[in-house]
Amino acid sequence: MFGLLTLLALTRALVASQTPPIRQIYTFPNNTFIEDIAVRQNGDLLITSMSVPTLFNLDPTADNPVPYIIHTFPNASGLANIVETAPNIFTLVAAVWDLAATRVVNNSAVIWSIDLRSDARAPIVRQIAAVTNSTSLNGLASVHGGSAGPHLVLAADSALGRITRINLDTGSIDTAFSDPLFEPLGSDPGTNLGINGLLAHKGFLYFTNSAKGIYGRVAINEAGDRIGDTEIISTISFAGNYDDFAIDGSGTTWIATHPNNVVAVQADDGSQTVLTNETLLLNPTSSAFGKGSETQRHTLYVTNGGEFVGNDLVNEGVVAIDLSGET
Ligand SMILES: *[C@@H]1O[C@H](CO)[C@@H](O)[C@H](O)[C@H]1NC(C)=O
Ligand SMILES: *[C@@H]1O[C@H](CO)[C@@H](O)[C@H](O)[C@H]1NC(C)=O
Ligand SMILES: *[C@@H]1O[C@H](CO)[C@@H](O)[C@H](O)[C@H]1NC(C)=O
Ligand SMILES: *[C@@H]1O[C@H](CO)[C@@H](O)[C@H](O)[C@H]1NC(C)=O
Ligand SMILES: *[C@@H]1O[C@H](CO)[C@@H](O)[C@H](O)[C@H]1NC(C)=O
Repeated sequence: MFGLLTLLALTRALVASQTPPIRQIYTFPNNTFIEDIAVRQNGDLLITSMSVPTLFNLDPTADNPVPYIIHTFPNASGLANIVETAPNIFTLVAAVWDLAATRVVNNSAVIWSIDLRSDARAPIVRQIAAVTNSTSLNGLASVHGGSAGPHLVLAADSALGRITRINLDTGSIDTAFSDPLFEPLGSDPGTNLGINGLLAHKGFLYFTNSAKGIYGRVAINEAGDRIGDTEIISTISFAGNYDDFAIDGSGTTWIATHPNNVVAVQADDGSQTVLTNETLLLNPTSSAFGKGSETQRHTLYVTNGGEFVGNDLVNEGVVAIDLSGET
């Protein structure tokens, strides 16, 4: 999540690059801020919005994809991040959001598990825990120590600059660790978004810090504890804000970046390629690779938060970037 209101004040990025083909998959109705994406084992996309507490399913291979509602969560105004914690079982955050303040309303953040193994139209939904002291639960990462180990989700608390650990088996919550590189720049909307995107990958917890413009990582163990120093991999090279991201098979990270970008960061040297498109990348919030066919696996799906026209947020949705020539 990054505050759209704040973005209006930012200088537009003057970054040009050869951008691979992008196509719109689906556009949501006005004022449906789209936040995150996860991909089911069958290749369908799960889409969250911070404006409605509804999880949407979208088949990106359909000729004219139309989303259907998987579930609407109670006592919430919107959903934030979603992560797959076991095949076809997902964890997400529902809360009452104060979007202008880019934070949650006190005592409203709840972690839910949603099991789509038998039937996505009749999911098994379970409340895991209420995270009463969170100010802004944002990125989620799945960590599990094999069949015997705990099943954990690590959550980025953007305003507090900490990693909250949620045990999916017991519902217990604690602070796993914090770090100066996770902290926000201030308490104003936008500047309060420190650590944001999270992904557990090959023994490391990868993260973005939106306010500080950092992409980095820290080694973790199966208990979700840090076991190394935090490293900076890249620092944003223009007036933009890193958000959530995906890592491809060669280790390149594809970061959804506001205002009109996807930034590809190479694993070996942290060098960055900036993709820009001012009509199809509109405050990108998250990205995920497709599943299934060769074509799907080289397609990066990017959610767009949308752009303001007057007081309306418009053109929010999902686009597909064809990376068959790149990855
Ligand atoms: C945006 O992407 C579309 C589709 O790939 C392309 O036709 C268009 O030229 C791009 N626009 C800009 C400003 O790069
Ligand atoms: C919703 O909130 C109300 C008031 O706090 C509470 O009584 C109710 O149990 C909540 N519902 C769910 C499904 O959590
Ligand atoms: C929310 O909680 C914070 C921290 O406990 C507190 O400072 C703030 O006043 C609370 N806000 C409201 C509206 O209650
Ligand atoms: C939130 O509450 C839990 C449980 O009391 C505690 O372990 C954790 O440190 C608290 N987190 C923050 C950010 O205060
Ligand atoms: C969406 O918002 C735009 C900008 O205000 C407006 O022109 C358009 O009519 C709206 N669309 C609908 C369906 O209300």
